[in-house]
Amino acid sequence: MTDSDLRPFERAVSAPDSADADLWFIGRIRTPWTDRRACPRKGDAQDGPLCEIVLDPRWSEAMLGLEGKTRLQILYWMHLARRDVVRQNPDFGNRAIGTFALRSPLRPNPIASSTVTLERIEGTSLFVRGLDCIDQTPLVDIKPIFCFDEQPEKRIA
Ligand SMILES: C[S@@+](CC[C@H](N)C(=O)[O-])C[C@H]1O[C@@H](n2cnc3c(N)ncnc32)[C@H](O)[C@@H]1O
Repeated sequence: MTDSDLRPFERAVSAPDSADADLWFIGRIRTPWTDRRACPRKGDAQDGPLCEIVLDPRWSEAMLGLEGKTRLQILYWMHLARRDVVRQNPDFGNRAIGTFALRSPLRPNPIASSTVTLERIEGTSLFVRGLDCIDQTPLVDIKPIFCFDEQPEKRIA
């Protein structure tokens, strides 16, 4: 990517020389969207399409206790996003907004998060609603919204 890919008022900086940490993708997310422009800006945990989170079977034991939970936080890696943009113009307006004031996928570490509704589990696949990423987006982590007994009506997330 070059600066010519930037929109008006956007700015990029040079990236650090080396990475500070490693991460492992723990699976892939299967969604109906093959193009970034076709994705919703924000997932719909109620009426969004059913998406499949395909966990690497290596991590299957880490799923113990997931059944019975209905709301999960999914962290994923926006692998197609550039990482050097510090001012963004998300709607082609006449100004830019700082990356940390946006939920845009363009960020130094392109980690996205969504709260999803867990519909069912089949083997190492989780079927959920509420995602907004393209098909085959790498999976970074899965966390419950509530660690212990789920009583959403009695709790504030
Ligand atoms: C605005 S972000 C929100 C992501 C997440 N819900 C969050 O708040 O952190 C969603 C947009 O990212 C883009 N996108 C989806 N999958 C992507 C990927 N794998 N790499 C880069 N951009 C992606 C799409 O344009 C989608 O509409």
